[in-house]
Amino acid sequence: MADPDRTRLAALLEAEQAAYTENHPRSRALFGEATNLFGRVPMTWMNMWSGGFPLYLDRARGNRVTDVDGHTYVDFALGDTGAMAGHSPAATLAAVHRRAADLGGITTMLPTDDAQWAGAELERRFRMPLWSFTLSATDANRWAIRLARLATGRPKILVFAYCYHGSVDEAFALPGPDGKAQSRPGNVAPPVDLDLTTRAATWNDLASVEAALAHGDVAAILTEPALTNIGIVLPEPGFHEGLRELATKHGTLLMVDETHTLSAGWGGATLEWALHPDILVVGKSIGGGIPCGAYGLSREVADSVTRHTDAGDADIVDVGGVGGTLAGNALSTAAMRATLGEVLTPAAFAHMTELATAFTAGVQATLDQLDVPWSVTQLGARAEYRFVRPAPRTGEESAAAADDQLDAYLHLAMANRGILMTPFHNMALMCPQTSRADVDRHTEAFREVVGALYG
Ligand SMILES: Cc1ncc(COP(=O)(O)O)c(C=O)c1O
Repeated sequence: MADPDRTRLAALLEAEQAAYTENHPRSRALFGEATNLFGRVPMTWMNMWSGGFPLYLDRARGNRVTDVDGHTYVDFALGDTGAMAGHSPAATLAAVHRRAADLGGITTMLPTDDAQWAGAELERRFRMPLWSFTLSATDANRWAIRLARLATGRPKILVFAYCYHGSVDEAFALPGPDGKAQSRPGNVAPPVDLDLTTRAATWNDLASVEAALAHGDVAAILTEPALTNIGIVLPEPGFHEGLRELATKHGTLLMVDETHTLSAGWGGATLEWALHPDILVVGKSIGGGIPCGAYGLSREVADSVTRHTDAGDADIVDVGGVGGTLAGNALSTAAMRATLGEVLTPAAFAHMTELATAFTAGVQATLDQLDVPWSVTQLGARAEYRFVRPAPRTGEESAAAADDQLDAYLHLAMANRGILMTPFHNMALMCPQTSRADVDRHTEAFREVVGALYG
């Protein structure tokens, strides 16, 4: 069976919308009152939630979220990965309390030994020897891009169509018809023509990468190990080996963003798939919810940067454009030490991956039974369904499978059944507290909701 019956879908969506509105009067009222907030939300992204208004948070613990109307949800959204360690993990809370309340000193511009511990731990996981800390993955990407330009003396960054690396100017690009990068639809007021800063290629298409690198002006390839922000699009066999070879051949650095793909395992996809980046970026989850991010450099990249800073033609200590006042603060480094050391452990990843495998099998069984032309893709502790079969190979193919009406129906229907999916597409993430019963609950709800449409 191909496209869903749109009349039936519209009726189902209307019913779910009505139930959502009726069951969340307090959230709806608070949203209505928030007239001093741009878009009525603390951050405009929060309007991604379906239903016309977001649920207002009352409390959250582990993989449970309770809204202000008193409904408790099994949370598979987990703050779009920020809470992959679970909400308010005990070890992180204890470290945060010790730092902020017992010892005091949340941000002082002075180092503590927690950062050194976290750097050593990140080296164990990602094999990258030298680390710097930020407050977000966006900042880690931005600052690392500056260093890549400095190290290579080249102006452009190569990205893949429909990638996402945070609000990084260079990355909102698509390959244009003339081989030049062009701005992605919706890009808010780009500072310069994207073609000046970026080359864009197609995921799983090494020829497009080679064509872009052949110009000799690319400082770094910036890529996730798998695309995760346009559904999950896995690399085909040989793609990463090809990227590494092409980067080396053309004198370009390979910069891997593990912010989401850390779900692949304890050492992310870099360890699982034996990747060999020159720069590695990670963020969101590693502080257990306390803002933080990090970038790791190879010794060669660090040496190239240092040559410039020693010569006095770049400044990474003062106002040269790399760094931030609160970056690497004592609170976030304490949180990272506790989260990496005690929460996101090998045992936690084994548990989370087993559950994501069960989640994927549950979704696949429904798709097979009802002959629904969708696909489900797993990446360690996360899984995602997409409205196309077989699973897309490129960002472009995955983007073409987007369906706002289906998205809204699934998100609302799941929320009305006590399940939160990430508001960006249909991604589900497991955390250490997720249980098999939670996964089975999703499987049942998915069968009911998709069955109402395709049954
Ligand atoms: C792969 C990747 N990198 C970087 C970011 C940016 O993270 P943040 O919004 O925490 O800066 C995101 C956010 O979704 C992401 O998916």
